[in-house]
Amino acid sequence: MGNSYFDLLNQASTFPQRHFGLTHDASNLTFHGLDLMDYIDEYGAPLRLTYLPDIHKKIKSTQHLIEQIRAEIHYPGNYHYAYCTKSNMSAQVMRAVLSSTKHIELSSAYDCDIILKLLREDWIDKNAMIICNGYKNPTYISGIQALLQAGLKNVIPILDTMDELLFYEQLDEKPTQLGIRLATEENPDFSIYTSRFGIRPNLVLPFVLERLKDHDTMKLVMLHSFVYTGIDDSAYFWNEFNKTLDLYASLRNEISTLQYLNIGGGFPIQQKLEYEYDQSAIMTDIMRRIMTVCIEEGVKVPDIVTEFGKFTVGESSCYITQIIGVKNQNDREQWYITDGSIMTNIPDIWALQESFLCFPINHWDKQYRRVILGGLTCDNDDFYNGENRLMLPDISITDKPLYVGFFHTGAYQQLLSGQGGVHHCLIPEPKHIYIDRLDDGSNTVCRIEELQSAHTSLSLLGYDV
Ligand SMILES: Cc1ncc(COP(=O)(O)O)c(C=O)c1O
Repeated sequence: MGNSYFDLLNQASTFPQRHFGLTHDASNLTFHGLDLMDYIDEYGAPLRLTYLPDIHKKIKSTQHLIEQIRAEIHYPGNYHYAYCTKSNMSAQVMRAVLSSTKHIELSSAYDCDIILKLLREDWIDKNAMIICNGYKNPTYISGIQALLQAGLKNVIPILDTMDELLFYEQLDEKPTQLGIRLATEENPDFSIYTSRFGIRPNLVLPFVLERLKDHDTMKLVMLHSFVYTGIDDSAYFWNEFNKTLDLYASLRNEISTLQYLNIGGGFPIQQKLEYEYDQSAIMTDIMRRIMTVCIEEGVKVPDIVTEFGKFTVGESSCYITQIIGVKNQNDREQWYITDGSIMTNIPDIWALQESFLCFPINHWDKQYRRVILGGLTCDNDDFYNGENRLMLPDISITDKPLYVGFFHTGAYQQLLSGQGGVHHCLIPEPKHIYIDRLDDGSNTVCRIEELQSAHTSLSLLGYDV
């Protein structure tokens, strides 16, 4: 048995796996079939890389899977895949999404401007569902009005409070379709009992009966309920889901326009090497439960809507950093210093203590050792140790630089970190390349966002440069 990094991964788990592999000489990593060293040689590090075809694959495979389940269990309603923009709003990502599905979920005022812009560029289908979630401030309400005035036929504001209805009643161009968001109970581990989003379950039915049932212009078409911790086979998830179904049945008994059950986002992505998630089993369970309750209660089975964010874009991206130095702080802790900031570029590592897949890009044939990755800021929290199990090639025995990648960073990380702003300790934003596939099957870099310059940062800080 050897002691190279490759041997380590081979012993511990199955490698290659999913969209990770090795080049022919077995020394460099491939991601979605891309030889990452080629891109590093051309564009340098630090580097963010987004592989757009993965987005298309995720959407299409899920639509296909749910169509199969529908046919298998004879689910009478339809299914609609909407994309939750807040997970990644870049123009490249939005276009990749809109090539595969037309429905979009928004969460804030400026989101509406993105939709208007994409509409002018013919990326948006006027019949697409534009689901407007979140707390509505006056700018967001104006944005929704602008979407309606632009001729979008299925703008569906989701009431986050009961008062929100009053805002729409005052508009010249009123929405004709509305949704209502149910406030779910939080996971027992969380410090808050009930989600701040949506309306308390016991208030929904009375409110709908009193204010919406016989409304002249606005009809309730969607019940929205999102369990924040995601769709998983836990007692907590099923408990919340069952409550949603009971409410759907009571509402549907009264309101014949209620057509959609929107279960939000929450499909996970791979964040550990050993990864199993049976999408098919859980969606089958969800759809069967909906059917059972609807049959028992004698109400129409709803069309299902999902708003997957993380799942749609998460696995399309990685963040690559070069190891620029080694420090030994005691007999056990060996630091590899990176050429960027971990806490800034992947904020969930620092803020939520989340794990991400972390692999060396090169030197797979070298011996491995346990290390801690240190960021370039002078912040104590700017590090990653992979729950104390991070192993990487030993670079004291190499002459060429080691590059390390954090994988599946495509959702939320860049937006939480902020794009184009001034970052912690003025560590610049990395270069970002977007890769797409051409009709002949070859890959092309379709957009490059350059490494942030000192000039940009200083002028943002008010210096005359
Ligand atoms: C209303 C709503 N829908 C969808 C999502 C997307 O969730 P995920 O990225 O876990 O799929 C979120 C995430 O916060 C959300 O708040």
